[in-house]
Amino acid sequence: MNVSILGASTSKFGELWQTSPRDLVKDVVAESIDQAGVTKSKIQAVFVGNMLSGTLGGQDHLGAFFAEELGLSVPAMKIEGACASGGLAVHAGVLAVSSGLYETVLVVGVEKMTDHKPEEVAKALMGAGADAEREAGATFPALYALMARAHMQKYGTTEEHLASVAVKNHYHASLNSHAQFPFTVTIEQVLKSPTVASPLKLLDCSPITDGAAALILTKNQVPRTKNKKVINIVASAVATDTLGVAQREDLTTLKAAVNASKKAYEQAGIGPKDIDVAEVHDCFTIAEIIAMEDLEFFGKGEAASAINKGKTKLGGRKNGTTDNLIVNTSGGLKAVGHPVGATGVKQIVEIYQQLIGQSGKKQVEGAAVGLTHNVGGSGATAVVHILKRE
Ligand code: COA
Repeated sequence: MNVSILGASTSKFGELWQTSPRDLVKDVVAESIDQAGVTKSKIQAVFVGNMLSGTLGGQDHLGAFFAEELGLSVPAMKIEGACASGGLAVHAGVLAVSSGLYETVLVVGVEKMTDHKPEEVAKALMGAGADAEREAGATFPALYALMARAHMQKYGTTEEHLASVAVKNHYHASLNSHAQFPFTVTIEQVLKSPTVASPLKLLDCSPITDGAAALILTKNQVPRTKNKKVINIVASAVATDTLGVAQREDLTTLKAAVNASKKAYEQAGIGPKDIDVAEVHDCFTIAEIIAMEDLEFFGKGEAASAINKGKTKLGGRKNGTTDNLIVNTSGGLKAVGHPVGATGVKQIVEIYQQLIGQSGKKQVEGAAVGLTHNVGGSGATAVVHILKRE
C-alpha cells in the first residue's frame, strides 16, 4: 500500500451541545497535524467522511467547507457511505496516496447528531436503507433485531450472549476518557434495560452521538521524526451487498464484510490469526458477534460463547501470551458512541494508538497488527483496513 499514518486524533464522543462541527474538526485536525510534525501547507487533499450533514444540518458541501476552515485551497471532498462514511474516507485517502498523486493527505470523519430529535435522526439514518424498509417503517434497531433472531434460531445464540458484548465494551469504555458512556454495566442491567426492538434492548444499541476524528496519511518513504514508530496501512478493502435485508440469502452473515475481509487479508498477506487487536462495527451487540464470524476470528456459531467467556476482553492475554485477539478496546460503537461519519476514522485512530503503544490503561501488550471493520447500513457497505507496525 505504501501508506503510513503520521498523526491521528479523536475528539470526545457524546452529547456535545456546546461544540459545532467546525470546532470539533478544528481541534482534531490541529492535534493530528501537530503529531505528524508537518505544516498545514503539506496537506495536498482533504477527504471528509460524513453521512447526515445535509439532511440534519443543511450543509452538504463539506469538502470545501473544511478546506476553507483550514485556509487550504486543495482538492477536498465529502465521502458518504452511511455508517461506513469514515472508513470510505480513509479508503479514498489511501487510494490518493498509494496512487502517487498526493504525498500527504488529511482524512476527517465528523457527525453532529444530538442537536436533533431522535425520531428525526432515526428517519435520516434510514436514508441508508432500502425503499421497502423505509416504507414499512423499519429502523436500524429493527433490522439488526431480525439478524439477531435469525442468529438465535440458527446457532442457539441467547440474549445473555448479546448482553455480554455490551458488558465487555462498556468495560473497555470505562478506561477511555473520550467515551460517551465510560461506565461498566452488568448482564442483568442489559437484560433489564427497556426493549428497543426485541430481542435488542437499550443497552444492546449504540447511541446517537456527536464526534470527530482525523488522520494524516503520507507515503511511507517520507522521512520521519527520529524514534517515531512507523505504522503502515497494509490493506484497505471495500465490498458492497444489497441495501435491503430481504434480498439476502442468509441473515446471520454480512456478505460485504466477508468479501472485504478476504480481500484485506490477501492484500496484507496475513490471516485472521495474525491480528492482535481489532475495532469492529458493533452498532448493535449482534453485529459484533456476526463480525467476529465474518472476519473468521471464530467459526460460525462460535463467537457468542467465546465473547461471553471473556476471550476478546482486555486482560484476555494472560501471562504475556500473545495468542488472544482483543476486540473494541475503545469501547466500540456501543459505549464510545457512534457519530456515524466519524466512526470509521476513529477506529483507525484507536488501532494506531494501540500499535504505537499509547493506549494507556486499555493497551493490548505487544500489539503489532490491528484490523478495523466499518459497516454502512445493515451491511450494504463494508470497509476493512489492516494496520501494521514496521
Ligand atoms: N446505551 C446506553 N445508554 C443509552 C443509550 C445507549 N445506546 N442510548 C441512550 N442511553 C441513555 C441516555 O444517556 C439516557 O440516560 P439518562 O436518562 O440517564 O440521561 C437514557 O438512556 C435515555 O436516552 P434517550 O436519548 O432518551 O434514548 P432514546 O430512547 O431517545 O434512544 C436509542 C435510544 C437506542 C433508540 C437510540 O440511541 C438509537 O436509535 N440508537 C441506534 C442508533 C442507530 O441506529 N445508529 C445506526 C446504526 S446502523
